[in-house]
Amino acid sequence: MPTYDLYAKDSGDPLWQVPATGAARFSWEYDDGRDRLLALYQKGKDKQWDGQKRIDWELEVDPYDPLGTPDESMSLYGTKYWAKMTDKEKGELRKHYASWQFSQFLHGEQGAMICAARIVESVPDLDAKFYSATQTMDEARHAEIYGRFLHEKIGMLYPINDNLQSLLGDTLRDSRWDMPYLGMQVLIEGLALAAFGMIRDTTDKPLPKQILAYVMQDEARHVAFGRMALRDYYKQLTDAELREREEFVIEGCYLMRDRLRGVEVLENFGIPTAEAEEYSEQSEFLALFRQLLFSRIVPCVKDIGLWGKRLQQAYVDMGVFEMGDSNLDLLMAQDEEIAEQLDAERFAAEEQERVAEVTEAIEAGAGESQAGEG
Ligand SMILES: [Fe+2]
Ligand SMILES: [Fe+2]
Repeated sequence: MPTYDLYAKDSGDPLWQVPATGAARFSWEYDDGRDRLLALYQKGKDKQWDGQKRIDWELEVDPYDPLGTPDESMSLYGTKYWAKMTDKEKGELRKHYASWQFSQFLHGEQGAMICAARIVESVPDLDAKFYSATQTMDEARHAEIYGRFLHEKIGMLYPINDNLQSLLGDTLRDSRWDMPYLGMQVLIEGLALAAFGMIRDTTDKPLPKQILAYVMQDEARHVAFGRMALRDYYKQLTDAELREREEFVIEGCYLMRDRLRGVEVLENFGIPTAEAEEYSEQSEFLALFRQLLFSRIVPCVKDIGLWGKRLQQAYVDMGVFEMGDSNLDLLMAQDEEIAEQLDAERFAAEEQERVAEVTEAIEAGAGESQAGEG
């Protein structure tokens, strides 16, 4: 079914054109790669997988509760609207929220694909181009999977959030080659990764769990790449140049915290914007969720050397400053492990099923031959 028929609200022009600036760069040096980057490129090739095969699409999903979301985590919970809602309407609201959330993942993945392709084009060194080509493919697979999940299992999509779109636009319009890394790999992907992780670790529904665990396995490489490239580059920048990047990060972080909350879902349910914003602001669960969204960004920003006074102050203000000390390497290693463990569990369960089937067949066979003898 055309996606246009599934959008829960008007999504405007079917094409969004962002004029490109900056140069496409060729490198004639083919034998000068950095070991760590080439190792990441190799890993990117080794770890490709196919969502059509690795994910069990036969698993059923209840579109009215795709993630097993508890009542308390709904922003309307405890309000006068909630009190008036029937179970059917609550299910409808869950469907819209899940649709909104996964639609932002989907649009974000398309953005990540386009940014990775932009990096292939603009980054000066061939090792980074090679690596980024594998990431472009990773992001294409992710967009494909989220798109399939939304079309087949939820049956509804939301247009891209205006603020996510404007951040993406700023990232792409900037002619400095490090900006797609900073805007996409560090900010948008950092935020997405934290959101993926929270859903992966709390949902009791097997299909979204598989999707998120496997996508996160790839994202661990993407973050590693952004960190490597920017850490090296930012060492060479002047203070003024670093401050400009920090301002971009500060602005992006506030925008993502305050303007990416799914208020458009509540508006769609006829709740006035101001009230919808107030509910999202007041919800204790969402407040915690919003803080945790920064668990991947803050340590990354610190690690790449953007840790000036103003940025530190902004993170203190947001209550996420301490996250700068969390161990990103450990988090990434865990993301990879969780995916591998899920594979192992699924394989073991399948093996058990197969053994049970064979045993049953043998027993049935034995019963028949006994009956024949008797
Ligand atoms: Fe991705
Ligand atoms: Fe990514």
